[in-house]
Parts: sequence; structure tokens; C-alpha cells
Amino acid sequence: MSVLRVRVWRGGAEGAFQAFEVPRHASQTVLDVVTHIQRVLDPTLAYRFACRVGMCGSCAMTVNGVARWTCRTHVDKVARGDALEIAPLANLPVIRDLVTDMREFFDKWARAKGQFSGTRTRADDFARVAPQSPARRDADAAIECIGCAVCYSSCDVVAWNPDYLGPAALNRAWTLQRDERDAAHAERLRAVAGDAGCHACHTHMSCSERCPKGIAPTAGIAGLKRAAARAALRDEL
Ligand code: SF4
Ligand code: SF4
Ligand code: FES
Repeated sequence: MSVLRVRVWRGGAEGAFQAFEVPRHASQTVLDVVTHIQRVLDPTLAYRFACRVGMCGSCAMTVNGVARWTCRTHVDKVARGDALEIAPLANLPVIRDLVTDMREFFDKWARAKGQFSGTRTRADDFARVAPQSPARRDADAAIECIGCAVCYSSCDVVAWNPDYLGPAALNRAWTLQRDERDAAHAERLRAVAGDAGCHACHTHMSCSERCPKGIAPTAGIAGLKRAAARAALRDEL
């Protein structure tokens, strides 16, 4: 039976990698490897997962230097020979081992006014949104985000400027700006047009390259930049 040599981050920000040997199997995922370590070799290892099928986003970690969903990442695709290095997501505080503190990530969604602001009541009829309208198509392309933070941890601008709202929060803001039922467009545009908002993006594209859902936050951020520029010209910011 072949063996994987796995280095796993232990401790907080000042921690270090610890080496383990894990039996290698066909179709093994990186999450299977972490689970084996925790269940068989060291029950004190802290990590996070829920669905195991790419729906919840909670299993995201850094695997051989790249942020990924570990439950949807096969060892054979990412191992360097028999070597695997597993670390917590970058750009987020480490609580312990492979678990990061997601609070600032979701706080930024709130700062970007990432909540829907409707005007109708349950007494009103359903809103009718034309499926082929440009706004609806823009929203469709961006709306499947599950908040995994893979894009956020892949973004160099977040690393340089921890205040930057980041690709996920801006992508969320964009879906709401393109939702014709939402009533907070002006307020939200002001929230994302500041120094730590859309204009800080350097279009490095790592977010769009790494998003496991195939979302391109860069496209939404470009849309926000255009909308902010138009609003500034009209003196509406
Ligand atoms: S945009 Fe993609 S990578 Fe970023 S949080 Fe959403 S699903 Fe995850
Ligand atoms: S395109 Fe913008 S948001 Fe995406 S990774 Fe690059 S700098 Fe960050
Ligand atoms: S455990 Fe839910 S996406 Fe991996």
C-alpha cells in the first residue's frame, strides 16, 4: 500500500507544520486525508467541514499553496508525488490548526450592504423579472456564491490591505445592484465605492480563476467600478 507524506498546520498564527503518514487510496479526497489524521492519528486536530459534496463551502483550506474545497479536491490531482501540504485559508485569522475565524469575511458582506432590501409585502403579487434581461443575466452569473472564502484567501489586495472588502462581498453587492426589486442601490453603491471598495481591486483575476463555483467576481467588480464612475459624474455618490 502506498503512503502519503502529509504536512499539516498545527496551532495558531505562530504554529508550525506537523508531519503525518496517511495510507493512499483510489479516489481519495484531501478532506478524506484530514479526516483520517483526526480519526486515527491525532484526535486533537481541528478542522471544519459539513456537507462533503461541495455545497456548504466550510471545508476550504490551502492545499499545496492553493485555496480549495478539500471535499472536492482529489489527492491525485494535487499531490506532488506523495507529498501534500495542508494549511488554513490565507488572509483570515487562524483559530487553531485548519480552522480560520470567518467573522471579518462576513462582516465585510455587511459593510458592502450585502443584504436584500425589498419594498413589497406578502400582500403584493410576485415580482416579475424578465429572465433574459441584462440585469437578470448579470445577477444569474454571480448569485451561486456559497461564501467559502476561497476567492478572498486568494486575493493579493486583501493581503496588502486588510480593510479591502474583497471579491466575495463585492460580488454579493453586484448581484443586489443588478436585482431590480432591491431598493438600496444608491446606499450600497456608496458603501462599495470607497477606498477599500471596488476601486482597490487590481484585476489580478485570482478570485475568478480559483472560485470553485465558476463565478467571476472580477466581472462584478468591474461593473461596480463603472456604476460608481457614472454616479460620480452625476454627483450622486
Ligand atoms: S465567489 Fe466563489 S470562491 Fe468566492 S466565496 Fe463565493 S463561491 Fe467561494
Ligand atoms: S481581481 Fe480584484 S478581487 Fe479578484 S483577486 Fe484580483 S484584486 Fe482581488
Ligand atoms: S464540506 Fe461542504 S463544500 Fe466541502
